[in-house]
Amino acid sequence: MEILTYPDTILKKMADPVDNIDGNIHNLIDNMSKLMYRASGIGLAANQVGVAKRVIIFDINYKEKGKDLTVLINPTIVLAEDRVVFEEGCLSIPDFQDKITRKKYLKVKGVDRNGKPIDIEAEDLTAICIQHEIDHLDGTLILDHVSYLKRNLYKRKVEKLMKRIDNGQSNLL
Ligand code: NI
Repeated sequence: MEILTYPDTILKKMADPVDNIDGNIHNLIDNMSKLMYRASGIGLAANQVGVAKRVIIFDINYKEKGKDLTVLINPTIVLAEDRVVFEEGCLSIPDFQDKITRKKYLKVKGVDRNGKPIDIEAEDLTAICIQHEIDHLDGTLILDHVSYLKRNLYKRKVEKLMKRIDNGQSNLL
């Protein structure tokens, strides 16, 4: 399992709800957290590792691995208030970041890895992170939040690189 990057088509797919939390889902969560911490990420959605299921994990305190990890299955935003602007990056979009406007306060519900219902109140970075990951589950990337110009610049950069690799001229050293 690895973190897939743009333009992998699964990143544009709407993820399906989880209706049975079994061993496969537990394995998925364990693999996701390993990959997230290894990449020094603060959040990850299941479709970023190729599984179109509504599972997200996050931990803004990523340096202390596993201490504050939250697993949220089938998340739903029940309240979103005020606005905050933050320069976001994404593990699936290498070498890109931009200022994105999000809601500052959030109430979210879902279930944890044991199927127990959980309610989360979040603000600032945690709220930003949850919105970013739920976006992933809906097939939305930070590229979809930025200007047409910035999106296209990035698309062209990736296309150029992929063309080069297809032609047997990789310059990735
Ligand atoms: Ni992301």
